[in-house]
Amino acid sequence: MTDLPPPVIHPAWLPPPTWRPLGSRRVRVDASGPFADTVRDEVSRACSLFGGSLSPAGGPADLILTLAPEDSGAAPRSVPDASDAAFRFGPAAPGAAPGFPAAGDGFRLGRRGTATVVTADGPSGLLYGLFEVIRRGEGAFDPALADEHHEPAFGLRVLDHWDNVDVHPVMGQVERGYAGGSLFWHAGRLRDDLTRVGDYARLLAASGINAVTVNNVNVHAGEAHLLTDRLGEVATIASIFRRYGIRVHLSIDFAAPVVLGDLPTADPLDPRVRRWWADTTDRVFATIPDFGGYLVKADSEGRPGPFTYGRTHADGADMLAAALAPHGAPVRWRAFVYNHRQDWRDRSTDRARAAHDHFAPLDGQFADNVILQVKHGPMDFQTREPVSPVLFAMRHTRQAVELQVTQEYTGQQKHLCYLPPMWSEVLGFRATGDSAPTLAERLSAGPAGSGSAVEGAASGRTAAGVLSAVANVGDDRFWTGHPLAQANLYAVGRLAWAPDRDPAAILDEWISLTFPDAPPRLRHTLHTLMDDSWRTYEHYTAPLGVGFMVRPGHHYGPDVDGYEYTPWGTYHFADRDGVGVDRTVATGTGFAGQYPAPWSDRYESLSSCPDELLLFFHHVPYTHVLHSGTTVIQHIYDTHFAGAQRVAEMQSAWQSVADLVDPDVHARVTGRLAEQHRSAEEWRDQINTYFHRKSGIPDAKGRPIH
Ligand code: GCU
Repeated sequence: MTDLPPPVIHPAWLPPPTWRPLGSRRVRVDASGPFADTVRDEVSRACSLFGGSLSPAGGPADLILTLAPEDSGAAPRSVPDASDAAFRFGPAAPGAAPGFPAAGDGFRLGRRGTATVVTADGPSGLLYGLFEVIRRGEGAFDPALADEHHEPAFGLRVLDHWDNVDVHPVMGQVERGYAGGSLFWHAGRLRDDLTRVGDYARLLAASGINAVTVNNVNVHAGEAHLLTDRLGEVATIASIFRRYGIRVHLSIDFAAPVVLGDLPTADPLDPRVRRWWADTTDRVFATIPDFGGYLVKADSEGRPGPFTYGRTHADGADMLAAALAPHGAPVRWRAFVYNHRQDWRDRSTDRARAAHDHFAPLDGQFADNVILQVKHGPMDFQTREPVSPVLFAMRHTRQAVELQVTQEYTGQQKHLCYLPPMWSEVLGFRATGDSAPTLAERLSAGPAGSGSAVEGAASGRTAAGVLSAVANVGDDRFWTGHPLAQANLYAVGRLAWAPDRDPAAILDEWISLTFPDAPPRLRHTLHTLMDDSWRTYEHYTAPLGVGFMVRPGHHYGPDVDGYEYTPWGTYHFADRDGVGVDRTVATGTGFAGQYPAPWSDRYESLSSCPDELLLFFHHVPYTHVLHSGTTVIQHIYDTHFAGAQRVAEMQSAWQSVADLVDPDVHARVTGRLAEQHRSAEEWRDQINTYFHRKSGIPDAKGRPIH
């Protein structure tokens, strides 16, 4: 019997042809050190494919990659390795915000004579400059290329993997993973062959990501050991990511001093506990000098935390911050804290309020190297939520916004759902008025008085903002299960560089890279399928911002009352007269009052609350007339018929480009679209039938409802 050939791993947004414009030219790398070596290796590989050459110092070149001279005011020129203090965080790097690399990621791109020149602000800028040249293709060598300086809006751009080391009996190898197993671990062991991690690091660097958390925020028994006796595995992973400017972070168990350290307590104010964390953290840095930091889920969904000891979350976070401070690294402390054992009969408890209630009073108490990581919405990565008010309530606390690339509630990578239009709305939200700063601008500026604002960019410092995102990859040969879900992974890194980029432009860039030489018909079809796919998904699932209505546990497919009488705090309160959650100050839970003006007033009032969030903030009769002019019940019917119909059109559009797409990719997407169509019809029929039965109001257009 002959062995089958190993499956071909899809090259995602770096297929060989993207390297042709660079690889067919003469390229000089006027720098030394690890990142320069990585860039040189990439250039050599491309040149061996396409006939170009790596020129020696002083030799002729069509492209020159170089570092800015030290006296230009940009970041230090020294090129680091992992043990070099210049590669470390904060204190070793004057001018950098705590927890942020000293070296500038930025670069200048322009023409000098007959050559295109990338002048990096700091060592990692060489990498990002290289990938900008790749993105531009032949355009990078246009004699008319204008001089441009690029730098990221967010200094820390991190993907959080919810990977388990041991296969969890319920959550599997990757919690909420829809693309197979972990790239790092398989059935309890670090993989022997980590080649794909190297390919992954390269893809991430090309999208702009500079940090990765390797393990699940729910740190189970085996995974807790990654901090101590299994740290070597993390070091191995770090050694692969390092070449691409990506630091490795670890999710830790708050109870680790008890679980791993034989202490009777994990009380953050107990000196023995503080010593344990300081010593353990010193050992982490002795093993991984450029270690990125800790991520903590505490007092959340059953995880241990400071509440056990009557301490606050500031006490807990500050203890870890103290252990990390000598190394200049941050702790990211998650704000996802709520009562997941509430009584559904208790109408006074509102899960949406919880993070603000817990954390806003602690503003000013967190150490400089604590980053409070806040989910973008107040509930849990729903298809439509308002932006979390916590992100606007704590001017003295460094914060990260957390996005979910893995499509837990947005179709689990069976449904096509291009998420950047949602993320753009979040990052562009102006909480304090239409001319106030956007969320992205506020986060990039860092906390009030930190002096680490975006002006840092001009002086070569790295911006202080943090954007975190839950990863959507696995060991699937298309990386993300649904091949077109790769676009979400690519785009999150690009938005972390430039949050105001148009999602359609990012998609266009991704198409050019992933489908080299895509003819206009294919490009157009991909836009038709993807540009509005988030809104299409919204149309056939839970209506008007009400959320959930998914099957409990795995969260796939419709189940309108699935969570209605559970302890999870996710209710819609539909009855025969109306639906929605009254979160007003006047008559409801008061959540609307957690926003600053003018949004507190806009959400409070039925007349100014945006239609798409109506049921998040108000309980209204089915006959309530939306701004769009239609009633709530008719809107539900119309959007659900239209959404499912749209998926059928997406299927035909995809079939029409079968001749232009690699057959493997085409077949995989065809299969996913068939499931999306089946599921969209299921959603349509369950939602429409449910509300028809509740309200007794027929569809004005007489379509079939069951
Ligand atoms: C959601 C998700 C969990 C996850 C949690 C978190 O509730 O369903 O699997 O652990 O978010 O973000 O911590």
